[in-house]
Amino acid sequence: MALVGKHALITGSSRGIGRGIALALAEERVKVAVHYYENEAAAKDTLAEVRKRGADGIVVRGDVTRPEDIAAMFRKVKDEFGKLDIFVSNARPEVAAFFQPPLDITLKQWDTAFDSQPRAFLAGVREALPLMSAGSRIFAITYAEGSRTGGLQPWVGMGSAKAALESLVRYFAVAVAKRGITVNAISPGWTENSVLNTLPEQAQQLIRNWHTRGWTPMGRLGTPQDIGNVVTLFCSERAGWITGQVIYADGGASLMNAGVPPEIQLG
Ligand SMILES: NC(=O)c1ccc[n+]([C@@H]2O[C@H](COP(=O)([O-])OP(=O)(O)OC[C@H]3O[C@@H](n4cnc5c(N)ncnc54)[C@H](OP(=O)(O)O)[C@@H]3O)[C@@H](O)[C@H]2O)c1
Repeated sequence: MALVGKHALITGSSRGIGRGIALALAEERVKVAVHYYENEAAAKDTLAEVRKRGADGIVVRGDVTRPEDIAAMFRKVKDEFGKLDIFVSNARPEVAAFFQPPLDITLKQWDTAFDSQPRAFLAGVREALPLMSAGSRIFAITYAEGSRTGGLQPWVGMGSAKAALESLVRYFAVAVAKRGITVNAISPGWTENSVLNTLPEQAQQLIRNWHTRGWTPMGRLGTPQDIGNVVTLFCSERAGWITGQVIYADGGASLMNAGVPPEIQLG
């Protein structure tokens, strides 16, 4: 167990992908700070699952759009853990807080997207670094399809915010390279047991059918555990030479050609 004795903070780990990351790290006996915003019961449940896996941890609360909450979150981590080896910036506000097309999105919704992504990452990484030593790992969870395309119009705020987040990952990777700390973005494809399950049933089915029909060559959607496994892999000492990258963890979906129907591409 190479990760025994390590400490991690994962924002938004009460539910969805963040919870999958917390549980995968717990399997490796990492001590986990489970972070939530409003859903304390879900955070406590994640912590109980962490303990079932033989690890331990704490619960921390905070709104990542508020820098003072981020500072308080890290104060608690410092008080309880004394150090930090893994920081995952994963939290994302509810879709209603930012989901509007370019001509309709309000400046408040735009700010919510940017405050929760690049600004929260900037503030979080600056708080994390004084607690970190060589070999530490920083991750941003992005959605790179949204940051490089324009089709899903109401995603304009979050897509633009994720593009800025990915850019920040590269700048921070260089800034901390000499300290032996890596900074990478992980880009999941559509994932079960996450925000997907809050969409109208018909939208969920359309998305599932599209991916199982071929847009994801592996023929299924991802799971929070898939993404937790990728984060765990990158926490290995052997991943220490990879930094500043956007890692697609999507069963091959990002390899598909948007100009050609999946049935033709898959032969
Ligand atoms: N789901 C996908 O298919 C998918 C695909 C690609 C990338 N991603 C990325 O993966 C990340 C997680 O997505 P998800 O779908 O797993 O999330 P989710 O299930 O919707 O959970 C969101 C998490 O963020 C927390 N949160 C919400 N608003 C917050 C705020 N203002 N401050 C702090 N925390 C807040 C929630 O806490 P509470 O429980 O307290 O509300 C919860 O833990 C996001 O960055 C997303 O863009 C997701």
